[in-house]
Amino acid sequence: MQTITIDEAPRHVGDEITLRGWLYNKRSSGKIMFLQLRDGTGVIQGIVTEPESPEMFAIADRLQRETSIIVTGTLREDKRAPSGCELQLSTLKVVHEPTEAFPIELTEHTPAFLMDHRHLWMRTGRQVPILRIRDAVFRALRDFFHEKGFVATEAPVLTGTSVEGTTTLFEVDYFGEKAYLGQSGQLYLEATAMALGKVYWIGPVFRAEKSKTRKHLTEFWMAEAEMAYYDHTDNLRLQEEMIAYVVDAVTTERKTELEQLKRDIDLLREEVTLPFPRIDYADAVKLLQNAGHDVSFGDDFGAPQEATLGDHFHKPVFIERFPVNMKPFYMKRDPQDASRVLAADLIGPEGYGELIGGSQRADNLEELIAQMKEKDLPLQPYEWYLDLRRYGSVPHSGFGLGVARTIGWICGISHIRETIPFARQLNRLYP
Ligand code: 4AD
Ligand code: MG
Repeated sequence: MQTITIDEAPRHVGDEITLRGWLYNKRSSGKIMFLQLRDGTGVIQGIVTEPESPEMFAIADRLQRETSIIVTGTLREDKRAPSGCELQLSTLKVVHEPTEAFPIELTEHTPAFLMDHRHLWMRTGRQVPILRIRDAVFRALRDFFHEKGFVATEAPVLTGTSVEGTTTLFEVDYFGEKAYLGQSGQLYLEATAMALGKVYWIGPVFRAEKSKTRKHLTEFWMAEAEMAYYDHTDNLRLQEEMIAYVVDAVTTERKTELEQLKRDIDLLREEVTLPFPRIDYADAVKLLQNAGHDVSFGDDFGAPQEATLGDHFHKPVFIERFPVNMKPFYMKRDPQDASRVLAADLIGPEGYGELIGGSQRADNLEELIAQMKEKDLPLQPYEWYLDLRRYGSVPHSGFGLGVARTIGWICGISHIRETIPFARQLNRLYP
């Protein structure tokens, strides 16, 4: 007899099969017991009838939620079931019985209670589809970069310097010296791109941000790419192609899960028709002022402004050419206007905020040193980075995609803490 997973069930209608998983829920109707079995790939209904198998019925009657079980039975087609099938049980083996009642009810709990029980909560409801979509997003990103000829690489997590500014650094003691958890792999990827041409990594980054919003984590995963000989225009084109590729792959591969989350898949696919609009930062400020926002040239956009931009364009939009003092030291100045940088943020639709930050990089040694001095950065810890402008410097560009925010948008869920197995937030280090 074949052991299969629940997502494979529709291909085995009529077969006698084995499933291994956990009891998700159950209900009985007189002499019939309906067991909901889950295995991480889906949920299926198993049926036990008392007259046919009184012993198994008695065991099933006793079982609590989250008992681990192995069952065998015959699969029958059931068009109304989410799995497309149901299972008429012939055997039921108990692997482990919970010592206490499972703490997560399948009804309402407070977010704090759920986050305290994240290790158990993740087995239930929409958490399984979200984490399966997360997996598909990671794979789509890797496939995209691979197909485009990128080399996968890595950046260190322990670093001696800041990339995105000193205010959000987590400091650690490194054998008596100060070290920091990496805020972005970018500077290291710039070095690697000079060796390999086009590189990417998807890795964890850390921001000691005291932000308690639905879009901020202190530890999150960034998909970063760095490309030798790419200018600002090439950079934006690659980013929009990547977003369209990921949404196409995930909506195809994880359609069932997106439906379970009640995500409007047609809307999502429509949002990623290319090209994405590109608007100058100054024009974005004007657009927002006309829509009644109290913003001035030089201001960062917050959630309400990002929501307005999303409602205006109904798709991701690039905001380009920010004023120099809004952005970090490494960005290339616009040759047409040295008060602006050749950078763009990609703002997601439906209020999901900034999905990507990227720029062309300063590639001239003197210009880069001058920009670092303007930001009061010490040169010595960055000497290796300056070397990249001393030996065969080339125009190059790159970007970082916030994976959690991207998954949040694709899933259509309101808080990114659900997009990562174990979220790290301002007030959360447990579990
Ligand atoms: O815009 P950021 O800070 O850009 C960088 O770090 C660049 N060095 C990346 C690069 O060019 N290689 O961060 C990139 C993205 C943001 O657009 C956002 O989506 C996400 O990372 N992000 C966060 N996601 C969750 N929680 C936070 N606290 C985040 N901060 C940034
Ligand atoms: Mg940014």
